Amino acid sequence: MKDGQGRTIDYMRISITDRCNLRCRYCMPFGIDPLPLEDILCFEEIQAAAFCAAGLGIRHLKVTGGEPLVRRDCCRLVNMLKAVPGIEKVTITTNGVLLGQYLDQLEEAGIDGINVSLDTLDPERYRSLTGRDCLDSVLEALKRAAARIPSVKVNAVSLDLGQENWIGLTELAAQMPVDVRFIEMMPIGYGREFPALDHRVLLEEMGKRYPGMEEDHTQHGYGPAVYYRIPGFQGSIGFISAIHGKFCSSCNRVRLTSQGYLKTCLCYEDGTDLRAVLREGQKSGTGRGHYCWPEGLRPDDRELQKRLRAAFEEALMKKPAAHCFEDPAGITESGNMVSIGG
Ligand code: 5AD
Ligand code: SF4
Repeated sequence: MKDGQGRTIDYMRISITDRCNLRCRYCMPFGIDPLPLEDILCFEEIQAAAFCAAGLGIRHLKVTGGEPLVRRDCCRLVNMLKAVPGIEKVTITTNGVLLGQYLDQLEEAGIDGINVSLDTLDPERYRSLTGRDCLDSVLEALKRAAARIPSVKVNAVSLDLGQENWIGLTELAAQMPVDVRFIEMMPIGYGREFPALDHRVLLEEMGKRYPGMEEDHTQHGYGPAVYYRIPGFQGSIGFISAIHGKFCSSCNRVRLTSQGYLKTCLCYEDGTDLRAVLREGQKSGTGRGHYCWPEGLRPDDRELQKRLRAAFEEALMKKPAAHCFEDPAGITESGNMVSIGG
């Protein structure tokens, strides 16, 4: 459907957990107080929200976290989302630590694409940035995924425009069939403590090193990245420049947090509490593990879907026109990226 600004919204990111097995400095350096499990949507509730979203024109779902693969049975959820009528693609964003372990299951569940978050190829920097020493296993899993999964991308938040950092990442796209995307740091949570390095500088440097580099206009996915091709490379290089290349006028997305809050813009708290709609009139959770519906939940229940749709539509009509990251006083989002899902 179209939002209040006339933009077509066809993409929803779904955060399925606030937990993570890394401690990235710009995200959750000191960990978090994890949410009680009953506060987090159970798979049937997520599927019900996806069912509603699909009815309103959402075609692509991205499963995120925290780190989605730390949630038990994550691959079963991928399968449940693939089964929602109208959903064309289900992809996942992972830090790659558990990817080797779950790649087979993800493939069996029908995953359409995998994004691996990886900000550096230097083992020492990796350890100091993420708190763990597991770069090798992430790279190994990335290589295996690239050989088997249709669309594999590397997401690197730009923390350092020194050549020694971006050349290695860029050349992953030469070595394997992956797109490598550089992401400008956004001032959300701990991200505020880092500068948003300007991608125009990076692009210029890259152009000097790879003289044949040119803009690539083929469709690469559903996001705001601007892509370039480098002769001889298997994948493309993308730039997601939320700060220095604001793309809000073509925004196509909403986000569902693990607690079931439908967020309409990264920058603000605007949105609607779908969990309250989902659980209206239900008894509280079991206190043991995930919320449990006393009489079971049918994700396509008509009455439930009617209520969800009304809340969803209302939030979409009020989706903010643009972020105001350049004017931090206007930012109302106070949560961390880990609870929003990137
Ligand atoms: N700005 C930009 N990207 C961020 N991510 C986490 N925090 C920020 C931030 N403040 C990225 C992660 C991951 C994706 C889900 O979001 O590195 O690639
Ligand atoms: Fe975990 Fe991703 Fe946050 Fe790093 S950025 S701590 S991998 S959720």
